[in-house]
Amino acid sequence: MELFRFENVSYTTLDKKFSLKNINWTINNFENWIILGANGSGKTTLLKMIYGFIRPNETGCLYWRGELLPNLYELRKSIGFISNFIVEKIPHSEKVFDTVISGRFAMLGYWEYAQPYKGIIEQAEQLLIKFNCAQFRDREFTTLSQGERQLIMLIRCLMAEPYLIILDEPCAGLDVKNREFFLKNLAVIMQENKNIAFIFVTHHIDEIIKPFKKILMLKNGEIIKQGDIDSELTEENLQLLFDIDLKLVKFKNRYSLIFEED
Ligand SMILES: Nc1ncnc2c1ncn2[C@@H]1O[C@H](COP(=O)(O)OP(=O)(O)OP(=O)(O)O)[C@@H](O)[C@H]1O
Ligand SMILES: [Mg+2]
Repeated sequence: MELFRFENVSYTTLDKKFSLKNINWTINNFENWIILGANGSGKTTLLKMIYGFIRPNETGCLYWRGELLPNLYELRKSIGFISNFIVEKIPHSEKVFDTVISGRFAMLGYWEYAQPYKGIIEQAEQLLIKFNCAQFRDREFTTLSQGERQLIMLIRCLMAEPYLIILDEPCAGLDVKNREFFLKNLAVIMQENKNIAFIFVTHHIDEIIKPFKKILMLKNGEIIKQGDIDSELTEENLQLLFDIDLKLVKFKNRYSLIFEED
């Protein structure tokens, strides 16, 4: 069954300098997608549409589970979104435990207006223990390292039992060890939550891990390729996407790029 669908969507920013053009893309239940594209190709803009921050303003329609996009509160409860601009909105003095709990209410900061009941508190405690984060429980979220923050954000998303989790460059700013730590935890979460679809945005193909089977390549606001990673993640397509000569290397289930010097 389809989860989210872009039907012939075009969108232009207010200053008219950037457009997403003719986007046709269906994310089915349980599918895991990589979105790959250069800086400024429109990846975050595309994600903002799924989360309802922006709407098509030229042509096209968006569908959530087969119906025109419903009210935003219901939608946001069903979608987890990990992005730096969400992390920046977390109140400075908020404790990690409260950050995790707030995920259940699809709210940032204001969860004290909603009453967490015993089941929710237990759920948060269990998730923190499971991912070795119990020691952060009473720390202020903003005192965590970037790697720790990303993991807490992922745990926070699980609280709402969403249909879809969107990760917008979750490994940006992480060193190799922290990146691998995060990706390993993500792989575990994906294996254990096959009923959740994941979308992972990146510029770096070495962040693509095994549970992702689908890829969408975005260039200058247009989809240039989409389909199975096995068939679409080719040297030719990557050269077209990034406008640079490169060699693609696959080792076990991971990918890497090599560049030749003149
Ligand atoms: N609100 C806005 N007003 C004007 N221009 C915008 C707005 N939001 C995005 N843009 C522009 O649209 C283009 C696409 O931005 P977007 O953030 O979607 O790119 P991206 O693929 O996520 O890039 P990056 O990899 O650097 O995160 C950029 O040129 C950006 O400057
Ligand atoms: Mg972006």
